[in-house]
Amino acid sequence: MYILAPSLLGADFSRLEQQIQATAEAGARYLHLDVMDGAFVPSISFGMPVITAIRKCSGQVFDVHMMVEEPGRYVQDMKQAGADLICVHQEACTHLDRTISQIKEAGLKAGVALNPATPVSVLDCVLDQVDMILIMSVNPGFGGQKFIPYTVEKIRELRRKLDERNLKTDIQVDGGVTQDNIRLLIEAGANVFVAGSAVFKGDAAANTRAFMEIMKEYEA
Ligand code: DX5
Ligand code: ZN
Repeated sequence: MYILAPSLLGADFSRLEQQIQATAEAGARYLHLDVMDGAFVPSISFGMPVITAIRKCSGQVFDVHMMVEEPGRYVQDMKQAGADLICVHQEACTHLDRTISQIKEAGLKAGVALNPATPVSVLDCVLDQVDMILIMSVNPGFGGQKFIPYTVEKIRELRRKLDERNLKTDIQVDGGVTQDNIRLLIEAGANVFVAGSAVFKGDAAANTRAFMEIMKEYEA
């Protein structure tokens, strides 16, 4: 099953409700929420108060991408704000196994993200514990960056590893995803696609529909 996760970071923040609803009505099942702390990544974005507010106007799966040092500190807060899935960076967790357990014990779905230069093999020990793995295809911190091509091979390698173990874990890809490269990413084995600029630049509903059409070509 292929899922589009529009990244709110690319939206017009003066009309969030309208922008979110446009993507939901056009078929985007997830909403990707980029939380940045100014430490793990250079920039600061938004946190619990904004997520709590927008929870009231969306029934989408709230996919919270924590670009935060030691994100285990915020699992309960994010749950209260309305997160359904919390994705933490391997590079930001001293005790990754513990952080994954905290998320799952809170009753949420757990994801782990890898920066472009982090090899897939760092997740060998926890592959069967997570619901989703996020392969970053840009260096995290900002929207609108250029896709890094070598990350496609990481997606292929990860899908091979999951298949070998018979795991149906989602592979998400985030950064520079467009209508032009999504086919390559689907063919490499990804099934959850984050897109910020490619959804919210211009007509968010029309852009979402165009992504949905492409994904439909690959549905069995
Ligand atoms: C980058 C964020 C992304 C970002 C994607 O650090 O994790 O989710 O919003 O934006 P685009 O699709 O414009 O690269
Ligand atoms: Zn993200």
